Amino acid sequence: MSRSAVDLTTCLGEYTLSTPLVAACGTVGSVVDFAAVGHLEEYGAAVAKSVSGTPWPGRTPPRLAGTGAGMLNGIGIQNPGVEAWADEVGPQLGAIPTDIWGSAVGKDAAEFARVAEVLSSAGVTAIEVNLSCPNLESGRMFALDADASTEVIAAVRTATELPIGAKLTPNSERIVAIADAVVGAGADWVVLGNTVWGAGFDIHTRKPLLSGVVGGYSGKPIKPISLRCVWEVSQGLPHVPIVGLGGVSTAEDAIEYLIAGASAVGIGTAHFASPRVGSRILSGLRRYMRRQGMSSVRDLIGSVEPW
Ligand SMILES: Cc1cc2nc3c(=O)[nH]c(=O)nc-3n(C[C@H](O)[C@H](O)[C@H](O)COP(=O)(O)O)c2cc1C
Repeated sequence: MSRSAVDLTTCLGEYTLSTPLVAACGTVGSVVDFAAVGHLEEYGAAVAKSVSGTPWPGRTPPRLAGTGAGMLNGIGIQNPGVEAWADEVGPQLGAIPTDIWGSAVGKDAAEFARVAEVLSSAGVTAIEVNLSCPNLESGRMFALDADASTEVIAAVRTATELPIGAKLTPNSERIVAIADAVVGAGADWVVLGNTVWGAGFDIHTRKPLLSGVVGGYSGKPIKPISLRCVWEVSQGLPHVPIVGLGGVSTAEDAIEYLIAGASAVGIGTAHFASPRVGSRILSGLRRYMRRQGMSSVRDLIGSVEPW
């Protein structure tokens, strides 16, 4: 098979991506700076850091920690607020060689909707709704509650005509029910998953590794957890497009997600070790497809063979 015969385009519903790789939210900054070092043309899309309606100060340091296997973060979604973001980053989006998705967070459905509206006007091509932040009313993560998630997605749906991805949490025991609810409310795809709750302690100082003690655990060790979510949703809701992510750092990792049923694959923590990891993953994916005699990456999606 010739090099040009490998078709890497993939679809999330009616939205087409040039490759199945998505640079994950929070791991490529505002995307503008990352564009100078990473090879963003190799990605179908890159997700800018989550922004809220008003500036959020984030947590005090330490906010990032290695654990020996994977990473802990407790940034607290520090961001300048969507208006400041749109003023600074919006005008630069056109120069970036891939689709940029805006990531919306808020304390209630109205804030999510307002953020989505401003992000849409700023020129992003899709809205990723980060449901892994606390609901002002209950203090619980939106993504743990089908009703709260539904309310947010329905509000965002009325605020934008862009495609919407709902980013869920692997901390949920009811991932299929929540995915069903958000798609019913207007999400075009689900993003599975996000960081897993974790903690760590320094045995010399006996202090927590993060100022907030509990934070988000990411990187290689969480891959089986996210793959389980992808598998369950792809089996339970075969019509729902999935962006799978969690612990992807090699082509083999990305291929596993595609086989499990994801139509696109996010890369997060791996960017900190190697900003150009996306190029390596894409080359490996092309080689794998040639070896398998496959001409389209879409043939891989959900191609699990039963025992
Ligand atoms: C430092 C850091 C910051 C992150 N910030 C966000 C964020 O603002 N919004 C969001 O939706 N996800 C955020 N994430 C989660 C990632 O997008 C991704 O879902 C998670 O890290 C799992 O993928 P990985 O194992 O490939 O890193 C962040 C992750 C890290 C490591």
